[in-house]
Amino acid sequence: MEIVKTKSELKEKLSACRRRHQSIGLVPTMGALHAGHISLVSRCVAENDICVVSVFVNPTQFNDKSDLVAYPRTPEKDAAMLEKAGCSYVFMPEVEEMYPQPDTRQFHFGALEQVMEGPYRPGHFNGVAQIVSKLFYAVEPDRAYFGEKDFQQIAIIRSMVAQLQLPLEIIACPIVREADGLAMSSRNQRLSPEERKKAVLISRYLSESRTFAAENSLAATKAFVEQKIGSEPLFRLDYYEIVDGRTLQPLKSWDDSDYVVGCIAVYCGPVRLIDNIIYKSCK
Ligand code: PAF
Repeated sequence: MEIVKTKSELKEKLSACRRRHQSIGLVPTMGALHAGHISLVSRCVAENDICVVSVFVNPTQFNDKSDLVAYPRTPEKDAAMLEKAGCSYVFMPEVEEMYPQPDTRQFHFGALEQVMEGPYRPGHFNGVAQIVSKLFYAVEPDRAYFGEKDFQQIAIIRSMVAQLQLPLEIIACPIVREADGLAMSSRNQRLSPEERKKAVLISRYLSESRTFAAENSLAATKAFVEQKIGSEPLFRLDYYEIVDGRTLQPLKSWDDSDYVVGCIAVYCGPVRLIDNIIYKSCK
């Protein structure tokens, strides 16, 4: 495995791979890697000749600058985990390498960005699109891998790929959970022991809501989760929405879609966590 710091060095190495007709997979990350990231890397290694993992804490996607400062950074540990997972190249650029000048591009995602994370994190998805498009231009992957925990992000990236007509496949990979059910996230390490114990209730209530949903309306199921989360003093709910898995628009009835997903964002103490559950899958 090689660690590469610049786009020109990366392009040179990947051009040689392409000349050898090797397929290239990319896993974009912000580091502080955990087993969820490694599941994406393992799939990328299995499905491509070359696996590139980017580790870059992207400043333009943080609408809250204190969140950017607090974001965990563990580059040595990340590199060791990636080597073990079979990654070929780790791309670890400095901010100046990715943003030699401010990126003034404005992406538009219409209704996809007007729901859920959109209103709570203004500018977030534009920042994600800026960095992910730069990574796609630098790596020119055949496939790129993203975790379904960031459900809305995948829809946004698919839309960006369609708008820019980029020739690559976006692969969505299932959420990886801790033994007790908490969705793996780099943010989990910022939870105090007491918050960590409570955080498990997010996935537990989502899972209970699936049983509840079998005999109740969509509105009642939404209220069930809102009430459960609302009754925990350590939690502050940003939103719980039950949406169409493709358009991300809130649904009124279970019969309105064949792909129904519940998406939640909730503060556990000072740490904002997201998770989701599939009620109806078209797959
Ligand atoms: O999901 C993430 O970790 C980030 O949003 C991404 C896709 C690596 C872009 O910075």
